[in-house]
Amino acid sequence: MLEVEGVAKQFLLGRRSLWDKLTRRRLKHVRAVWEATFRVRGGETLVVLGESGCGKTTLGRLIVGLERPDSGRIAVSGDPVRPVRERGSKRGRLQMVFQDPGSSIDPFMKVRDVVAEPLTGSDLSQEAKGKKILEVIASVGLDQSLLDRRASELSGGQRQRVSVARAIISDPEVIVLDEPTSSIDVSIQAQVLNLLVDLQKLNGYAYLLITHDPNVARFMADSVAVMYLGKIVESGAAEKVLSQPKHPYTQALLASAPKLGKTSISEVVKGEPTSLIDLPPGCPYAPRCPHVMEVCRKREPPAYEVEGVSVECFLYDKGVMAQQAKSSLD
Ligand SMILES: Nc1ncnc2c1ncn2[C@@H]1O[C@H](COP(=O)(O)OP(=O)(O)OP(=O)(O)O)[C@@H](O)[C@H]1O
Ligand SMILES: [Mg+2]
Repeated sequence: MLEVEGVAKQFLLGRRSLWDKLTRRRLKHVRAVWEATFRVRGGETLVVLGESGCGKTTLGRLIVGLERPDSGRIAVSGDPVRPVRERGSKRGRLQMVFQDPGSSIDPFMKVRDVVAEPLTGSDLSQEAKGKKILEVIASVGLDQSLLDRRASELSGGQRQRVSVARAIISDPEVIVLDEPTSSIDVSIQAQVLNLLVDLQKLNGYAYLLITHDPNVARFMADSVAVMYLGKIVESGAAEKVLSQPKHPYTQALLASAPKLGKTSISEVVKGEPTSLIDLPPGCPYAPRCPHVMEVCRKREPPAYEVEGVSVECFLYDKGVMAQQAKSSLD
């Protein structure tokens, strides 16, 4: 089981010069991930859904230890996750399938070496390694004749299957799948998603699947976390969040779904997302929200529990809404 509690990460914009240090000048920060909290059990899939730039990849990288959180706790079956840099290159129990296999796989490497990478430094014999490679390449539905080809000679779909083979070879418990189908042809996206479902059934992986596509979320999710400008604004069981969205942002995101591919969410939701840099106070969605109230621009809403779903929006605060009703009567 994966446990994530209050995880936050900011990036400094630009480098801090000596002058900045001496004058203690405050540099601008990008709030990439803010206080993320959730759990994913083995055999289950949490889908992280959100627009481009909202912090999804950063969240994935934090979980597998490629980024160090500023605060918060990440654990797998009770053991804290240490940054990759401290524990060497072996990413045994956590693996990530990267957003763009074109750039995450060295095109000149042989497929065999790409797949075997997570076994570097393991004490498996050469023979056992060879066996394992054949096993995973078969389980992602590729022919073993591909093993001696270079990654650059593969199709997009094949390359994505190689990424999956590389992720499962170390028998991980948790796999972060970052937009696993966004770089491949629509006609084979379903094949790759089905493969992921089958592998999960067989091996009980906990998946954290990152996507901007509500249709992928519908297909894959047991639970959903909707992210907006670094924050999880709504989370809960998939059937609830996807069929009765509560946060105005989730509502807009899902309303845009059938048109995705042609229209972007920014054509459905009015205005561009606020910049992540030096966010104004209040709810990050306030500048675009059709239901915005005065309080939304002043304070950030806490999480409210509504019908088993957690939603960060003042529309679900009884006190605020009573006040609102009263002032509209006055
Ligand atoms: N190493 C870094 N240094 C500075 N800023 C970064 C760094 N990595 C990410 N960011 C910033 O953090 C924010 C979140 O980026 P991230 O890649 O996590 O978004 P995303 O949701 O995965 O977007 P996309 O859907 O386009 O992949 C962005 O504003 C990005 O510019
Ligand atoms: Mg990303």
